[in-house]
Amino acid sequence: MTSRPHRPRRSVLYVPATNAKALAKIASLDCDAVIVDLEDAVLPDEKKAARDAAMRFVAERGAGAKETVIRINALSSEWGRDDLKAAREARPDAILLPKVDGPRDILEADRMLDRSETDPSLWLWAMVETPRAMLNLGAIAELGRDNAARLACLVAGTNDLVKETGVLSTPDRRYLTAWLMQMVLAARAGSLDILDGVSNDFRDLDAFGAECGEAANMGFDGKTLIHPAQIEAANRAFSPGSEAILEAEAIRVAFAAPANRGKGVLSLDGRMVERLHLEQAERLLARAGK
Ligand code: COA
Ligand code: MG
Repeated sequence: MTSRPHRPRRSVLYVPATNAKALAKIASLDCDAVIVDLEDAVLPDEKKAARDAAMRFVAERGAGAKETVIRINALSSEWGRDDLKAAREARPDAILLPKVDGPRDILEADRMLDRSETDPSLWLWAMVETPRAMLNLGAIAELGRDNAARLACLVAGTNDLVKETGVLSTPDRRYLTAWLMQMVLAARAGSLDILDGVSNDFRDLDAFGAECGEAANMGFDGKTLIHPAQIEAANRAFSPGSEAILEAEAIRVAFAAPANRGKGVLSLDGRMVERLHLEQAERLLARAGK
């Protein structure tokens, strides 16, 4: 079975497939991944042209080595199936499904790909942006435990969640936080990556930096972005900081010391560290490329 490759997803930039100028910029940007959007950023009259532009972009490897994802329209919409067929032929790294309500929506896309004998390394990502998806998170996460279902990553769709639930959108996201934390928990249960939703205000980079820092503390792997100005802050927030790296290295050194071989628990600078902390430290060092 195909195993999911680990890829950094600190900064994942949406670009409307209809914006040729923005698409042409992608290769030179420092984001980890790009989502070429056929869905909400594209008007109904432009769906067909957007699909063609997205396919050209992917076929010509317009993003260079960056992970490239196409967000199609919902399979229940009039464009969804044709989008999926076209995306399968263009072969991005993943297809992002919007408005997913539960595991059935993901399995439907998976089966369509299987029926056309699409390589199992074409992954599916799923937006979590409807009330039903929130209630079905556990079942969605279960799909992550079976690579045959192709699911690799969940993406918070905070604008749609605000619209669908009627909660007030505030700068501190106080009415969304509980749901965001549920998404992180579900992602971990299913060994999936989880990306935070977008921040619409791309001029206020101080606020954006704070939101990225908070998302990193909440356990998100990265943030979805709408504008190139947001890339740097996201890359910074979701990279391990120098202090965390030093601490992880100290834990690694402590457990490697001959005197500590075979010990399950140590005292390090007056703090208890267990083997689980060593595992955590190794994960962090791997993310930092050490
Ligand atoms: N990807 C790549 N390049 C982008 C970009 C994006 N998402 N957004 C803006 N740019 C480019 C612009 O083309 C412009 O390039 P230039 O300097 O060569 O002219 C530059 O960055 C500066 O853009 P700016 O003038 O500040 O913004 P704008 O008014 O052109 O666009 C938005 C603002 C919000 C319309 C645009 O950023 C956008 O469409 N973002 C993505 C929206 C989306 O996909 N939504 C769906 C998911 S939530
Ligand atoms: Mg949405």
